[in-house]
Amino acid sequence: MNVAVLISGRGSNLKAILEKEKQGKLGNAVVSLVVSNKPDAKGLEIAKSYGKKIFVLPSHKSQTRETYDNQLAEILEKNNIDLVVLAGFMRILSPFFVRKFSNKIINIHPSLLPSFPGINAQKQALDYGAKVTGCTVHFVDEKVDHGPIILQGIVTVEDDDTEETLAKKILEKEHILLPRAIKLFSEKKLIVEGRKVRIVN
Ligand code: GAR
Repeated sequence: MNVAVLISGRGSNLKAILEKEKQGKLGNAVVSLVVSNKPDAKGLEIAKSYGKKIFVLPSHKSQTRETYDNQLAEILEKNNIDLVVLAGFMRILSPFFVRKFSNKIINIHPSLLPSFPGINAQKQALDYGAKVTGCTVHFVDEKVDHGPIILQGIVTVEDDDTEETLAKKILEKEHILLPRAIKLFSEKKLIVEGRKVRIVN
């Protein structure tokens, strides 16, 4: 099963995925492509160090979202991609793209959705005074940070937590849950029924 990982920056989730693959713990999934919308994304170096094929697709101000997403879809189709993993990919995908890869796009978000969608999820949780937060792996639908939830991990918010310490604790969970979701998908163990995702044995 061919997986494309889409990134925009640091790529620590990408690294966690590639490490699991290297250990033979990613089920039937093979990361066959890493795409970044940012030419200087640190994650590109990680992809290269694991011998992965990379593709940089920068966005241009003059371009519509649809034009960009059309190019992205073309690249993914050319590479026979079965699963698209958004690992810190900071772009919203257009409805036609989501429909094209329906239930084949998963995203990791650093909060317990539906709480704190959008950007700066860790800061949102701190500012709100939440006592727990965490991360969510979900299928992507046409609304932002909204699709059916696959896995969630809980993190306790301590009084002395800062955005940085909280983000670090959440990332540790992300690095476990995102590869786990990819493995489950590759083994066809995720059954989507409306908003619910059933995990079968
Ligand atoms: C992760 O915390 C991920 O959950 C978040 O960006 C970070 C990427 O880190 N994604 C979002 O906020 C998407 N809404 P990484 O590049 O080190 O994997």
